[in-house]
Amino acid sequence: MKNKQWILKKFPVGEISEGDLVLEENEVPSLLDSQILIRNIYLSLDPANRGWMSGQKSYVDAMQTGDTMRGGTIGIIEESKNEKFKKGEIVNCMGGWQQYCLSDGKGVRQIPQGTGFPLDCYMSILGMTGLTAYFGLLDITDPQPGETLVVSAAAGAVGSIVCQIGKIKGCRVIGIAGSDTKCKWLVDELGIDSAINYKSENLRQKLKETCPDGIDIYFENVGGSITEAVLTRMNINGRISLCGLISGYNAESVVPGPAWGNLLIKRIKLKGFIVFDYFKRYMEAYQDIAQWLKEDKIKYKNHIIPGIENAGSAIKKLFSGENEGKLIIKISEPN
Ligand SMILES: NC(=O)c1ccc[n+]([C@@H]2O[C@H](COP(=O)([O-])OP(=O)(O)OC[C@H]3O[C@@H](n4cnc5c(N)ncnc54)[C@H](OP(=O)(O)O)[C@@H]3O)[C@@H](O)[C@H]2O)c1
Repeated sequence: MKNKQWILKKFPVGEISEGDLVLEENEVPSLLDSQILIRNIYLSLDPANRGWMSGQKSYVDAMQTGDTMRGGTIGIIEESKNEKFKKGEIVNCMGGWQQYCLSDGKGVRQIPQGTGFPLDCYMSILGMTGLTAYFGLLDITDPQPGETLVVSAAAGAVGSIVCQIGKIKGCRVIGIAGSDTKCKWLVDELGIDSAINYKSENLRQKLKETCPDGIDIYFENVGGSITEAVLTRMNINGRISLCGLISGYNAESVVPGPAWGNLLIKRIKLKGFIVFDYFKRYMEAYQDIAQWLKEDKIKYKNHIIPGIENAGSAIKKLFSGENEGKLIIKISEPN
């Protein structure tokens, strides 16, 4: 059986370019005892993918050139020689940028059936994206009614869920995003209080106008000059959830940092996190988010592109801002 796979050929320098990732067609090896064969249905494209390509160890082991590109997937078990898994089960794992993967079952999680939610939901709002928003906001910043929450990359997959959970918790929510369309969607459809287009508006001035009483909570997805502008308006005892720093992921040299003095003077609590830290509490988040979905208190947008061939070009959308919601590649049909 043939398997189309994206192989990391070179560590990108700056933006991902032609030849860094190459699509190859190889044979699927035969199944060994205790292994399962999964046909991938959906592939999650994430800003973190860029870091994994850098050859540097971070919170996960570094990828080597020649490896199949790492990525989160949802797939269906086509064959099983592992007693814990049955043919036909739908599972979530790090199945990689490819049509098929073999696994010994480690890190493979069955997806509940018959919940009424579309399968691609488990790649976004009921997957890592929702978990990241949920724990990153609630556990790290403990938002209180009436507090002002600012979210960067607010119209993105994680940011848009953070904005809505912030509203559910009674915060005033201000989103920062890169186009008028995204800002309009945040205010009109998701019901946040205000949105700022950081590309066309004066961010510092707009933050002054939209956060007249300062900022209590900042959900950080971007870094760089956006962070700098937000930090100057933080209130005493503010909290910052350090989720991501996408503005620096393609940088070829060290990105200049913000002025940290204000954090000191204002006794700001800042905490970085990786969503996997909350593995034991995932069920808590799924239950709350599923309930909010059923009650129509939370919305999500999945940007689904068909064809494994398109993964290499699609990932660039995360850095140009062309993605509208959670970026997902559809590799095959569920049935
Ligand atoms: N800590 C964790 O465990 C964890 C888990 C998942 C994700 N994350 C982080 O969460 C953040 C959002 O990820 P996501 O998957 O939800 O992606 P996303 O927000 O759906 O897509 C990325 C968005 O970032 C914005 N962006 C890109 N380059 C930018 C720049 N130079 N300056 C300002 N904005 C820029 C773009 O929106 P605009 O059009 O608004 O510019 C783009 O649409 C990332 O930093 C990611 O690394 C962290």
